[in-house]
Amino acid sequence: MDFFQLKGGIIHAENLPLTVLAETYGTPCYIYSAGTLRRHARVFREGLSALPKVHCAFAVKANPNLAILRILAKEGYGADVVSGGELARALAAGMAAEDIVFSGVGKTAAEMRDGLKADIGQFNIESIEEGHELAAIAAEMGKCPAVTLRINPDVDAATHAKISTGKAENKFGVAIDHAADIFAELAGHSSLNMRGVAVHIGSQLLSLNPLKMAFERVGNLVQQLRERGLTISHVDLGGGIGVPYKDGEVPPSPAEYGAMVADVTRNWDVTLMFEPGRVIAGNAGVMLTRVIRVKQGHGDPFVVVDGAMNDLARPALYDAYHDFVPVQPDGTNMMANIVGPICETGDTFARNRPIGAVKAGDLAIFRTAGAYGATMASTYNSRALVPEILVDGDQHALVADRIDPATIMAAERLPDWLD
Ligand code: LLP
Repeated sequence: MDFFQLKGGIIHAENLPLTVLAETYGTPCYIYSAGTLRRHARVFREGLSALPKVHCAFAVKANPNLAILRILAKEGYGADVVSGGELARALAAGMAAEDIVFSGVGKTAAEMRDGLKADIGQFNIESIEEGHELAAIAAEMGKCPAVTLRINPDVDAATHAKISTGKAENKFGVAIDHAADIFAELAGHSSLNMRGVAVHIGSQLLSLNPLKMAFERVGNLVQQLRERGLTISHVDLGGGIGVPYKDGEVPPSPAEYGAMVADVTRNWDVTLMFEPGRVIAGNAGVMLTRVIRVKQGHGDPFVVVDGAMNDLARPALYDAYHDFVPVQPDGTNMMANIVGPICETGDTFARNRPIGAVKAGDLAIFRTAGAYGATMASTYNSRALVPEILVDGDQHALVADRIDPATIMAAERLPDWLD
């Protein structure tokens, strides 16, 4: 359920017609709905209401815009960060340091120091090498951070290979069979508070089964660790719940997910931590674009829009489906290939797709673009960096500027010797 709905023949973001926002801010741009974001944040948390101790950290990578993070901070969410940049954003948005979890397979020493200096709530480490390094840096700084060890449970998440993270051959976490020994060794460091384990098997999961299997393996590990006399007070179950990108796609609801988690974890006696990204932000954003022209093709016509793969990379990267809907539908339909202006065939949003009819000058949206949308934008083909707009009821604001090609060019230098 989102607040991008047709009212009086025009799709609105909450109370505002997208035609007005396009006039005000230009296209292409991302439009976020604060109401949708808040709703998803609450529904996710309600789904977990049967669990005794819960910590929710929004996966900042899904949408790191400061305004988005501020809304989620006000909803009581912490942050799951994977870089010094994301850490700085979470803090700048007002998230409490103790509610921040630092994940990621390649934290640098400088990033570890940043996290320690800020006294963040937890580090999720992904290797014994990283554990020893964090221990040394923490000792030098006189800190003793809370740490979980990320496990690779060797479970197939049944999602796109590029966003699958829990198979043995993936770079993430430590093999579950070696986890107990690694944990015990790291627990020997007096500068680490080794308090639990973490798991995240992938993103855009449409079935609970792989998650359940991974969590059961984690449960066995927790028991093994406790049998060895180690204290486990926290388990981080990661993110991963999918969202519906197209009709007929039915991901598990937060309530179903919560019920599964409650069942698998009923004897664990730990604080359960979650890192949802897409399920919170995905349907809270659209990319608004204008049709430049409709070009006759070999088969179906090419609808050439002013948004491109640099603005919304998911179709080019993962063959992802994003619904394309005219802002002022006239009730007729057409078959189309939807493409951007960039000079490669990868810049294709959809092939041979039935859509509401559009013509040159019309506005349209790509739906479900609030997660992994603007944050993955680039300036390829010397295009502007796409702006972001937040709508909240009747209010709207530019929350990330359009960075034009001249500004980007101004950051480049010609060395003297080329004079
Ligand atoms: N926690 C960890 C450790 C993660 O690696 C991720 C996502 C999440 C949480 C959040 O997962 P979510 O709840 O959003 O599924 N760019 C790709 C998605 C990459 C996801 C990477 N990790 C896409 O556009 O589909």
